[in-house]
Amino acid sequence: MSKPIISIDPNQKGHDLGDLYGLFFEDLNHAADGGLYAEMVQNRSFEYCSIDHPEYHALYGWMDEKGNPLQQEALTIRVLNEAPLHQNNPHYLKIDATGNITIQNDGFNHGMFFEANKQYRFSFFVRNLMEETTIGVSLKTGDGEIIAQASCVVNYKDWKQFELILTAEKTSRTGRLVLEFLPGANLAIDMVSLFPIHTFKGRINGCRKDIAEMLADMKPKFLRFPGGCLVHDGSLNSEDRDSMYRWKNTVGPVEQRPSRRNSWRYNQSLGLGFYEYFVLCEDIGAKPLPVLPGGFDPHHQRAVPFEKMDEWVQDALDLVEFANGSATTKWGALRAQMGHPEPFHLEYLAIGNEEVGQPFFDRYVFYHQALREKYPDIKLINSAGPFAAGSEFERGWNSAGEHGSDLVDEHYYQTTDWYLANHYRYDDYESTGSKVFLGEYASWGNEWYNAVVEASYMIGFERNADKVSLACYAPLLANIDYVNWRPNMIWFDQEKVYGSQNYYVQKIFMKNQGTRNIAWNAIDLPEAEVNGDPFIHGAIGVEGDLANICYQNMTIVNHDSGEVTTIPDGTIGSTEQKIFTNINSEHYTIAFDFEKIGGKWDKGFKLMFGRKDNGDSFYWLLGGWQNQDTIIRSVQNGRVSDLTQSIWRVEAGKRYHCELRVNKRTITATIDNDLLNQIEAALPQKEALYINAVEDSVNNKKIVKLVNVREEAITVDLEFPASKVYLHTLNGVKDSVNSFKNPRNFTESQLEKEVVNGRVEVEVPSLGIVFATYE
Ligand code: AHR
Repeated sequence: MSKPIISIDPNQKGHDLGDLYGLFFEDLNHAADGGLYAEMVQNRSFEYCSIDHPEYHALYGWMDEKGNPLQQEALTIRVLNEAPLHQNNPHYLKIDATGNITIQNDGFNHGMFFEANKQYRFSFFVRNLMEETTIGVSLKTGDGEIIAQASCVVNYKDWKQFELILTAEKTSRTGRLVLEFLPGANLAIDMVSLFPIHTFKGRINGCRKDIAEMLADMKPKFLRFPGGCLVHDGSLNSEDRDSMYRWKNTVGPVEQRPSRRNSWRYNQSLGLGFYEYFVLCEDIGAKPLPVLPGGFDPHHQRAVPFEKMDEWVQDALDLVEFANGSATTKWGALRAQMGHPEPFHLEYLAIGNEEVGQPFFDRYVFYHQALREKYPDIKLINSAGPFAAGSEFERGWNSAGEHGSDLVDEHYYQTTDWYLANHYRYDDYESTGSKVFLGEYASWGNEWYNAVVEASYMIGFERNADKVSLACYAPLLANIDYVNWRPNMIWFDQEKVYGSQNYYVQKIFMKNQGTRNIAWNAIDLPEAEVNGDPFIHGAIGVEGDLANICYQNMTIVNHDSGEVTTIPDGTIGSTEQKIFTNINSEHYTIAFDFEKIGGKWDKGFKLMFGRKDNGDSFYWLLGGWQNQDTIIRSVQNGRVSDLTQSIWRVEAGKRYHCELRVNKRTITATIDNDLLNQIEAALPQKEALYINAVEDSVNNKKIVKLVNVREEAITVDLEFPASKVYLHTLNGVKDSVNSFKNPRNFTESQLEKEVVNGRVEVEVPSLGIVFATYE
């Protein structure tokens, strides 16, 4: 076979790449407190409570001199709330020392990280009620060695902030901040804080330098914040402890911000708030893309009454004013007062996250109309739910079409095979109307293979840049000791940070995004390889999904042979599994009636089909998470791809008639004759190479991007008019991962090569990525 040739025609321009690649930040996995937010003290304001997490209380994270959990003691150590520092920050620690009292805080990850010769800014608010006293402030190692020491004399009748700088003499990763009170000390303290002086860009109340630098190094075009489910999971009252994420709670002086439950089962200090996010965007060169709740919590079905929507819409209008308004406007003035008189140049605003259900879309219109009218230039982002297809996905797109949303936020987390099967997804989208914002996506894993398959999928974004405007991998950050979700792009502990394999792939794409596609043509490329069974066959059975079910009248009709198998009536317990039969046919229908007879109220059950001996299987989920879906799911190596979803709920005591029809790889599901799910479970396909070519008009260069997801190298000739090319190659071992010990467990090379007579030979290694850059 002759060597493939890829020729580039830089004169033929393609789609503008705009702000395609960005980042998505959500405070899960302790990404903010205990993560990017550089505050080292956990529970600095004694506000932790059991609504945040059942184990939390006001002294959580604090220890006595022996390192035991600090306990309130009548008359000497108390958490009080009379005359607090601020009504939003109602609790403080009251010390009435009869003897010496020592309290310590070891931060997150069971120990603070102190680096020898580095400085730390200690501060607290204090009010001593009787007379002057001296407080010892020190940094110690986990075994009690003092590595920095100072003292402060306080004599303040009212709350006052006290600050001092400590220099660590030694490095420790089990460090703690220690406060010592002398007998007779009679005072109240709050907002006990310790930051490294060297935050990112030296910002006060800033970000951890090493983590923020990882973000800045990627050169993202935008940053979506502050979540995720974090945004819309919560109560409707902004003053509730578990309120939805309301941005106004997160601005102004840090000590005046309320503490909030984080829906990922911990606490949000809100010290990293909207002002800090905007500043971070500026510092890393990314456009801000805030997400606001849309007056509906789909997790708990809480909806703002229509007559009360004004407050919510006003929050959105005020946010635009906070970001862009002049310093003479109310919210612009707050921004200026916080240190940023210039506007933040907000261009994008998302309403809602992964919205499921009409109540959100009925409310979206309130925001849309008000924002369009007042700020017609802001690009408004609607939501298409958490699934790649189905009724809620379509509801979001229909709403966007009806109202003229600029973008629609799609989310999906799937297997590598799903990404390979769906590489051409966006080729079928319309290039007119709302654009795609792929606000969350990832394949299930941080292995090299995940990263390289994601790279192949990203080539699809670029090819369709007239339809896909923005895309960001998710989630971004994870503290290794507090994992809510995996995979994640960047991992860290209190001391170190490393990028996953996916990080390095995202980074090479982001840094080399380019400004516009240019034309390319390939000849003699081998055909695509398609893997897998042309039809779905295997075992059929049922599986409990934490509810108890009784099923009846189950038949399996083999349309190829005409055979009908009847399954005896039975029940299935909440965690039970029953396999009934095996079918090896292209066309069949499974019909049954079922009724929920017990178990968890928010759960249903699963019909299993196409199950293989290795456990790979398809499922029809009736109920699903929170009992609000009917889903067609494929499970492969224990990893899930939800192929399509529709909103639906199992009601206990009600009988349903269900039919699932398999037609080769097309699956159709009806309940009581209503068509609820239909999808083709496409087979994964591996092209010989995934290719795109772009120009970067800012840096005056062209970049040819080549991705090889196959396990053999491919050699091609590239043709373009230049004398030299720089080849940046990444490749790795399929299942290799990065770690603290081996933070770059892949191969990377940079090579300059001569281009002879407009042609250069390039080898793209097995599971490899080559970016060929020329001027
Ligand atoms: O990225 C993790 C979570 O996944 C996000 O909070 C949510 O939007 C999605 O379900």
